[in-house]
This record gives sequence, structure tokens and C-alpha cells, in this order.
Amino acid sequence: MRPVIVAANWKMNTTPADAGELAAMIASRTREPDVVRVICPPFVCLAAVRDALAGEDVAVGAQNIHHELYGAYTGEVSAPMLAGLATWAIVGHSERRRDAAETDELIGRKVGRAIDAALRPILCVGEQLAERDAGRAIEVVARQLEGALGGRDPEGLVDGGLVIAYEPVWAIGTGRNARGIDAAEMAAAIRSTVARLGWGDAAAEGLPVLYGGSVTSANMGEFLEEPSIDGALVGGASLKPDEMAGIVGRAGMTARARRAGTEMR
Ligand code: 13P
Repeated sequence: MRPVIVAANWKMNTTPADAGELAAMIASRTREPDVVRVICPPFVCLAAVRDALAGEDVAVGAQNIHHELYGAYTGEVSAPMLAGLATWAIVGHSERRRDAAETDELIGRKVGRAIDAALRPILCVGEQLAERDAGRAIEVVARQLEGALGGRDPEGLVDGGLVIAYEPVWAIGTGRNARGIDAAEMAAAIRSTVARLGWGDAAAEGLPVLYGGSVTSANMGEFLEEPSIDGALVGGASLKPDEMAGIVGRAGMTARARRAGTEMR
């Protein structure tokens, strides 16, 4: 059975002076044993968040890693440098595709680097509004997955705990979330794409797919009502403890219901 996951992407917010307190507050207000919780603060706040979360069952993630291990890459951070600081890493976020011109090929290398460094990758994919309006959303996301994951050993990706976050670009930070039904359609398309990439149906069925884009405590339920959606990658709302309490609380309901459903079968 796939886990229910709520990952917080704090983006370029918080400082080492305040991140620990925020992380501790979120952790204490989201204690749902059936939900996998991850907080991804800026690099400079990783140590503070790690320390603040000592004794809490909340993982720490990075928001990016470099595609090389070391060398002349001013201002960059590689996956092995995160040892002891993080156990997850977001890769291929649309804001980095946009601002750092990251390509699918480069993002695929980051996925590999994450896994080699025992960081669980959250690979972000998603279409632009014009692409959705043109009826091309599924084709665009399939191409992103093929570009990043094609040719990579499926077993290594599964063992490395790969998670996909479907984040339609037009829904990020806009207050305009996708419909649950569209996210579910995309989650099915994502699993059939990786099945085609050599994963096979069983491994594809086990791939966790999150939704991201203007998730709030008010709309979280719409996504989790879809059995194909396994949780959320939360941006703006993840900086608000009240919102996170609602989002993770809702995820806990779903996790318990899904487990009960499996046990009944
Ligand atoms: P918002 O929740 O602020 O729309 O951001 C989503 C996101 O980009 C998470 O990675």
C-alpha cells in the first residue's frame, strides 16, 4: 500500500533564526502517525530545522541539489553535502525549470544523484496553462518523465523511494488549484508512463504521486478523495501552522481509511 505523504516546500522563506521554531510548531501540530511528513526549508536553514525536529517523526528535505558531485560550480550544493542534514530532496521544481533553465535530462541526473546519496527524490512535473488549454497536459508530463527517467534503472528508482509531484505550473502560487479529477487523471497517466519506461505495472502502481499547486486545508480533501493521489507538496500554506494542521489532519483521515480498506479486502 502506498503511503500518504505531506511535504512542505518553504521555497525562499525563513531564516536560520526563525526556521527551527516554525518547524517545531508545525511538527507538534501535525502528529499523525499514519502520514509521512517532510519539511523542505532553504539550504541555510537545514541544520536549524534538523535540530528543531530532533525526536519528531518529521523528515527534512532539500529544495534542490546539483547534478554533479563537486567542483567549480559557484553557489551550488551537491547531494553528498547534505549528509546528516536532509534525507529527501525536491528536484525539477517548475520554478527552477523556469529560473535556472533546468532541462529534463539535467533533472534526471539530479534524481540519480539524490538516490546515490540516499536522498529520497521528489521529482516535480507539470504543464503550463497554454498546454492544458491545448489538451496537451498529459503529453507534456509524459515527455518530462521520459526525459528525466528514461534509461534509468527502474529498480534503482523504486528502491530509492522516488516520489512524483504533479504540479501544474498555472496552479502554483496562484490560488487556483487543479480539480481533483484532473489531478487523478494525471496520476494515472504518470503511472502508465513509468510502466511504459520499463517499470512494469506492479512497480508503477506502487509509485507515490502527490499533487501540488495552491493546496490548502480547505481543498486538500478534494485531492485525497482520489485514490490515485497520495498526498501533497505544499508551498505557501506550508508556512502556516494552522494550515499544516488542517492539511496533515485531513491526510491522516485518508491514511486511516485507506489502511482500513486494505485490511477489509
Ligand atoms: P503553492 O502551494 O504556494 O501553490 O506552491 C506549490 C509548490 O510549488 C510546491 O512545490
